[in-house]
Amino acid sequence: MDKKPLKVGVVGMGGIGNTHSAAYVNDELAELVCVCDLIKAKADAAAEKFGVKAYYSLKDMLHAHPELDIVDVTTSGFENGSSHFEPAMEALDAGKHVLCEKPICNEITDARQLVNYAKKKDLYLGCNLNHYFSIPSEKAREYMDNGGIGEQVYCINKVGFNGSSAGYGGKGGPKWNLPYSHAKAFLTHPFSVMRYFCGNVTHIQAFMDKPGCRRSAEDLMLSIQSVHMRFENGCVGYLLSQRGDAMFGLGGWWSFELAGTKGTFCIENCVEKLTYWKQGQEPEVMNTGITDFGSTFPRRIHAFLEDVSNGVPKEYLRSSGRDALATMEYIFAAIESYEQGGALVRPHPLPPMHGDVTRM
Ligand SMILES: NC(=O)c1ccc[n+]([C@@H]2O[C@H](COP(=O)([O-])OP(=O)(O)OC[C@H]3O[C@@H](n4cnc5c(N)ncnc54)[C@H](O)[C@@H]3O)[C@@H](O)[C@H]2O)c1
Repeated sequence: MDKKPLKVGVVGMGGIGNTHSAAYVNDELAELVCVCDLIKAKADAAAEKFGVKAYYSLKDMLHAHPELDIVDVTTSGFENGSSHFEPAMEALDAGKHVLCEKPICNEITDARQLVNYAKKKDLYLGCNLNHYFSIPSEKAREYMDNGGIGEQVYCINKVGFNGSSAGYGGKGGPKWNLPYSHAKAFLTHPFSVMRYFCGNVTHIQAFMDKPGCRRSAEDLMLSIQSVHMRFENGCVGYLLSQRGDAMFGLGGWWSFELAGTKGTFCIENCVEKLTYWKQGQEPEVMNTGITDFGSTFPRRIHAFLEDVSNGVPKEYLRSSGRDALATMEYIFAAIESYEQGGALVRPHPLPPMHGDVTRM
């Protein structure tokens, strides 16, 4: 390899920070230099595991390692995203490229500001929208790009967590016991997949609810989302997500079907299976033999490392901060629709790819 590995520091050493760190250690495009957590024991344990230095504040880590190219933000917070904004801004401020876990932020104004700031600083801001970094998605994209789908007609995305009322464990802690914690923490994934295949969404209508077991437990979370949408290209779409309230039927916990005038594909269980149908032909079935959803993390992280190493123009960064912002705009449009009894909402426009970043 002729390129020098990119030097990486990871902030937030929970399960996901450890998953990211392992991906860097195993990727020839990266050198994991240091890890950081506000909780000393977590930082120390990860540092020992990966053979790197531990820090207990991002400020100290940035000060000690001016050579870092990338700061990876894997903190969590309310709605699994409220602790992303501050460290991500701090890292950008220090001139570092940032990969941030999803949701990019849990508040839309923070998300807009973060994306704007990365653009202003001319730094890469990526988000771990890992759900389409898989073999079935890659192959499905090939069908699309080779004209195998044609004009898009509809897409259906069912995704979330399998479960039942018998398995309900009671309302979560403060980070989860909020009306929109599932919507904000999770819908970024299906919206990212739908947008990856079908483009920008122009219209959204949503219903949200929760089952009786959550009501009796006074659980505030709206764990069921039913979202109807229209895309810029004319395709119509439906997204159904639920958080462990029921078992998913056909397609498993993660299915995405896109139908067009020339053919249709369906991905099942995210990483496992792809089927392609064309009129007059036997369906083409690809079973990957992969069942581990965790396989999406190193693939997505490698793509980020490739893009940064190659110095791709910022607008070509895969799964960018702007792409993540789009998903948050859709989530906030869905929330607005729900709050208005299912009214039709047009998502807030995205910042321009080019031009004046101060006009947002
Ligand atoms: N992309 C995916 O498929 C996927 C899957 C699960 C979770 N996630 C996301 O990954 C993120 C992390 O999830 P997790 O389960 O590991 O969370 P976690 O709460 O277990 O760990 C987060 C860690 O960050 C630390 N932290 C918080 N603020 C900090 C700061 N300013 N500086 C340093 N450390 C700080 C906390 O002490 C904690 O140890 C969440 O945002 C979640 O939404 C993504």
